[in-house]
Amino acid sequence: MAYELNQFIADCRAFLKADPGPKGREKVRAHLEQLLNNKDFVEKYCGDDIERGLNVLYEDPELKFQILAHINDKARVSPPHDHGESWAIYGQAKLWTDMTEWKRDDDGKDPKHAKLSPEKKYRLMPGQAGIYQDGAIHSIDYPDKSRFVRVTGTNLDNITRIRVDLKTGEVHQMTPQQAT
Ligand SMILES: [Fe+2]
Repeated sequence: MAYELNQFIADCRAFLKADPGPKGREKVRAHLEQLLNNKDFVEKYCGDDIERGLNVLYEDPELKFQILAHINDKARVSPPHDHGESWAIYGQAKLWTDMTEWKRDDDGKDPKHAKLSPEKKYRLMPGQAGIYQDGAIHSIDYPDKSRFVRVTGTNLDNITRIRVDLKTGEVHQMTPQQAT
C-alpha cells in the first residue's frame, strides 16, 4: 500500500514525541523520502496544475512542526541562511534542488558579520530528502518549476533567522517567508 500524507503525519508525531532530537528527525527525513516516492501524493500536492505558492499541508497543534509544499514557478538562488532555533528537512518532489551547506570560518561572535565557506554541495533529486539541524547554514539553487516538500520544527515565520550576504559578509535578519 502506498504511503500517504495522513500516515506520514501520524509517524512524524510518534517519532518526534519519542525523540525530538536528531534521531527522531532522521526518521522524519527517511519517511519523507518514502512519502515522495508515492506518485499520487506528488501529483496531488506538487503536480503541474497546482498553483504556485507556499502551501501549508499540515501544522501540528501540539508539537508545532509544519509540512509545507513549495510550488515554485521561477528558478531561484537563495542566500545562505539558517532556520533559527528550528530544523528543516527538504524533500524533493519534482526536478531538483542544488544544496550547499556552509561553515562559519569566524568565531560567530559578531552579530553583524559572518565569514562562510562551502562545506558540502550536492543535488537533491526527486524522492531524496536532506536535513539541516538547528543553526545550520545552507543555501538552495533550483530551476524553474522545481517543487519540494519541507518539514520544519516550527513555523519559521515566528522565529528569528539570519541570512548572510556572501559578497560583504553582512548578516541580516530574515523577514517572514523571505527565503526558504
Ligand atoms: Fe532553508
